[in-house]
Amino acid sequence: MTESSSFYVTTPIYYVNDKPHIGHAYTTILADVLTRYQRLLKRPSYFLTGTDEHGQKVQRAAEANGITSQEQADRTVVRFQELWKRLDITHDDFIRTTEPRHKEVVQEILQDLYDRGEIYKAEYDGLYDVTSETFITEKDLPEGKTVDELPNIMRIKETNYFFRMSHYQDWLIQYIEDNPEFIQPDFRRNETLGFLRKPLQDLCISRPKSRLNWGIDLPFDPDYVCYVWFDALVNYISAIGYRRDEARFQQWWPVNYHLIGKDILTTHTVYWPTMLQAMGLPQPRTIFAHGWWLFGDTKMSKSLGNVVNPMDLIDQHGVDAFRYYVMAEMTPGQDASFSHDGFVRRYNADLANDLGNLLSRVASMLGRYHEGRIPPRPEAPQAGSPEAEVWATVQTAANEMIGSLKTMRIDFGIARVIDAIKHINRYLEIKQPWTLAKQQKTEALHQTLYVAAECLRAASALLYPVMPERIGALRQALGMADREPVIDRVREFGVLEPGTALALEGALFPRIDRNPSEAPPAPAAPEPVDESNLISIEDFKKVELKTAKILSAEAMPGADKLLLLQVACGGETRQIIAGIAKHYTPADLVGKTVVVVANLKPVKLRGQLSQGMVLAASSGEVLSLISVDRETESGAIVR
Ligand code: MSP
Repeated sequence: MTESSSFYVTTPIYYVNDKPHIGHAYTTILADVLTRYQRLLKRPSYFLTGTDEHGQKVQRAAEANGITSQEQADRTVVRFQELWKRLDITHDDFIRTTEPRHKEVVQEILQDLYDRGEIYKAEYDGLYDVTSETFITEKDLPEGKTVDELPNIMRIKETNYFFRMSHYQDWLIQYIEDNPEFIQPDFRRNETLGFLRKPLQDLCISRPKSRLNWGIDLPFDPDYVCYVWFDALVNYISAIGYRRDEARFQQWWPVNYHLIGKDILTTHTVYWPTMLQAMGLPQPRTIFAHGWWLFGDTKMSKSLGNVVNPMDLIDQHGVDAFRYYVMAEMTPGQDASFSHDGFVRRYNADLANDLGNLLSRVASMLGRYHEGRIPPRPEAPQAGSPEAEVWATVQTAANEMIGSLKTMRIDFGIARVIDAIKHINRYLEIKQPWTLAKQQKTEALHQTLYVAAECLRAASALLYPVMPERIGALRQALGMADREPVIDRVREFGVLEPGTALALEGALFPRIDRNPSEAPPAPAAPEPVDESNLISIEDFKKVELKTAKILSAEAMPGADKLLLLQVACGGETRQIIAGIAKHYTPADLVGKTVVVVANLKPVKLRGQLSQGMVLAASSGEVLSLISVDRETESGAIVR
């Protein structure tokens, strides 16, 4: 599929049964950051978010709170809207599924599908999971458990309406196989294909009002409401004018990205595509499933009391610090682990030390050596000079940041920009403006300060979509008239206007000094050493660890956890099977230098030879490959 000229992105619509948490905030910030990058690139964009207000979860929450379902929705939606405002989210629309503009379109779709025989009435006799609001079979029960032992599972016998989803099974498999970008990351595509290996059932799209009354009425039977997912998914098209404003609908559909969490993969990659196909509409370009935020190694859950509330972090450290942390810390697709220490560490390293420090150095040197004004504009950097080198690093970072949008590796793009900022700091150390001043080399001094300020202007613009408020303030401090950057000016050298006065008020990112009461406890006295599991140096030397460069990577047919790697290790190429498919996509791996156990006895797995083992560190659900931190030839001995 060719790239579209416009950009439409959605978040899931959030249930209004409870207040928002870090997971909701993450997806919404990700969508906001992607959209703001598109605006920087001057691409027309549309960003939709909203709330999912029908269904059992909301009805139950309302009952527990002693209010009506509509009141429950009205009270909770405000919490989402307030958080988005606080987080500087710039959505173009916020849809609530209880709005007439949505309900009417859902009803028209239902009627149309019913009239065309895509929806039929039948009796269902089987199991129902109240928590997920789905019909299940005996095979879906947890091992060794019976229905009577599971309070959330009920046996029900009722007449319902069904969507002929099973008709589309073969078509969907073929579509997914033909369109690799349709479900991302790759390992999630495999997960959906795995799901589609079992026969696909028709989808029950109604709930009798006697059991659940909080939903959209079926237009052809007043005794039923629509199943919440069949209603909710339609928000992605009802909001942009489907059946109401054809021109508007055509402008944005098909969507570029449906951003979702990994737990709602099946609804988005099986239910929704088959619904769209039945409606005769084009498919989304990409459905992208991100991983989960864990608290340390554990899942966040209300019962464990470890759910991170974004409001607390924002109150303590500011909105942009929070936006930056979640974007820089999570590799989209994989799980990430939240910790207060990790938050403080990243903030102090990237924002206080690298970025904030660079601005205060530039400002204070300009204050000292040029009356706090931008110095005269120097010639464009000469090839081979330190000026050309540092400007080139900023330009490479710009390419990598923009490139990372297509691969959904914003964390990688951000890291490259921080590297460029480090380079600008190093440039100042090499040029030593304080020595140039002492030696009265005024031209060189002015050139150095101009180049540092200009590189900071261009590099920091690349972080504007992530930290709009703080980078806006940085630009103002540099005397820029516009808080919002555009990409052409990032590419241009000499934008800062000589003579403009700098206006820096206080530190951009004040260092977070740990409150002494929060200081980590003093290390405990060393425990007596148990020597029974120690090995001698001779034992250790038996293991040959070497660096290896990954030449290619591909999924192992029939094994969704495994990847088949070809690696260069010294003079030879080896094949290694690695159980990392849930954590890395083949595209992440090619070109990486990793560490392998080189003298492991070869084994055959599913008919393929594996000649070694790739080392990785695992922490909870997060797995990280061991790699080397500077250019190293393959085959180098690791000790
Ligand atoms: N209402 C449905 C979505 C309908 S879309 C047509 C829903 N709502 S939800 O409020 O329960 O969840 C919204 C999103 O939050 C999901 O994408 C889910 O994956 C995400 N998260 C919930 N907990 C999370 C984490 N701990 N970490 C990251 N995201 C997580 O599902």
